[in-house]
Amino acid sequence: MVVREIRKDLYQVGAIDWDLRLFDELIPLPDGTSYNSYLIKGSSKTALIDTVDPRMKHELIANLEDLEVRTIDYVIANHAEQDHSGTIPAILERFPEAQVVTSKQCKTLLMDAMLIPEARFKTIKDQDKISLGGRTLEFIFAPWVHWPETMLTYLPKDRILFSCDFLGSHIATSDLYAGESADVYRAAKRYYAEIMMPFRTMIKKHLKKLSTLKIDLIAPSHGLLYDKPTFILDAYRDWTSDTVKNEVVIPYVSMWGSTKSMVEYLVKALIQRGITVKPFKLSVTDIGELAMALVDAATVVLGSPTVLTGPHPLVAYAAILANALRPKTRFASIIGSYGWGGKMVDQIASMIPNLKAEILTPVVIKGYPKEVDFVALDKLADTIQEKHKSIGIDTN
Ligand code: FEO
Repeated sequence: MVVREIRKDLYQVGAIDWDLRLFDELIPLPDGTSYNSYLIKGSSKTALIDTVDPRMKHELIANLEDLEVRTIDYVIANHAEQDHSGTIPAILERFPEAQVVTSKQCKTLLMDAMLIPEARFKTIKDQDKISLGGRTLEFIFAPWVHWPETMLTYLPKDRILFSCDFLGSHIATSDLYAGESADVYRAAKRYYAEIMMPFRTMIKKHLKKLSTLKIDLIAPSHGLLYDKPTFILDAYRDWTSDTVKNEVVIPYVSMWGSTKSMVEYLVKALIQRGITVKPFKLSVTDIGELAMALVDAATVVLGSPTVLTGPHPLVAYAAILANALRPKTRFASIIGSYGWGGKMVDQIASMIPNLKAEILTPVVIKGYPKEVDFVALDKLADTIQEKHKSIGIDTN
């Protein structure tokens, strides 16, 4: 990657990962990602904010060589996860005078994961400052975006917030600034859904804290920089708000068509009632798309056949995922079919304790749906419409 100057003596020196398609061996990355690292020169000290995935350390080193960097005094570690910290050991080896500046909690994680000796650390507390000469870095602890040790770094002179994972997006692009791009909005929402949504309550507090800062630029450690900060801050305020939308998400699997027929009927019944429906056939679903749909939806209905007395494993996976992501879903139900018996409903219900949703009467039938079953699905659609109205959502 080429070095990009953001301000005088302030550069993006990270790496673009064009080809990565799966993060943490879990999260699909349709657009790749980037690991942003920032070099800031003051009149007396030089700091590097975050590093890059260790697979791409050669790019960070090459960028520092291009800038003829002879000294790094501080490596600011906003977050201990390896995609940002993994090249710290290589930087410490190359710049023996450098100190890792981070919180006590992050220090412990870095010592455990990266085997960095304690002597190389300078531990700071929330709201501590470090002068680089003419420029000062301020540290804002922001636990649980998305690890407990995470912090943000603020540069008041330039009004830049270095937010690490927070507010980021997984996009590999040669562009530097997001503007108000719809593509970036979508990527940032996907990122929020997959990584940040479980910490919605904490994030609301952090957003409130940030509202007191003057910010001209947000520089995350993944994706593009936000030259219009309200673009991403307003989006986060919306996603983390308690408001849900008139939407029903239906993750489902069907083996021999019974559950599919029920899903198709319910989709139609909900559309007729003025409700937006998002069905996801789990055997072909990108889980990032499903996670995004969960950000706003008022209701989730899981659809599953019965396999060996329980739900289809893909539905169990979706239920466990939804439980981990803790969406603000208000209502949930289950539809599906069985051949001779089973405990599918009980098993799915036990997988979603984190969903603080009211469970609407499931529709689980024997074999292929018959007239009486379609009547039950109409009733479920009526109930969903009534429930949406009951929380102030406008439907037909
Ligand atoms: Fe981008 Fe939590 O690491």
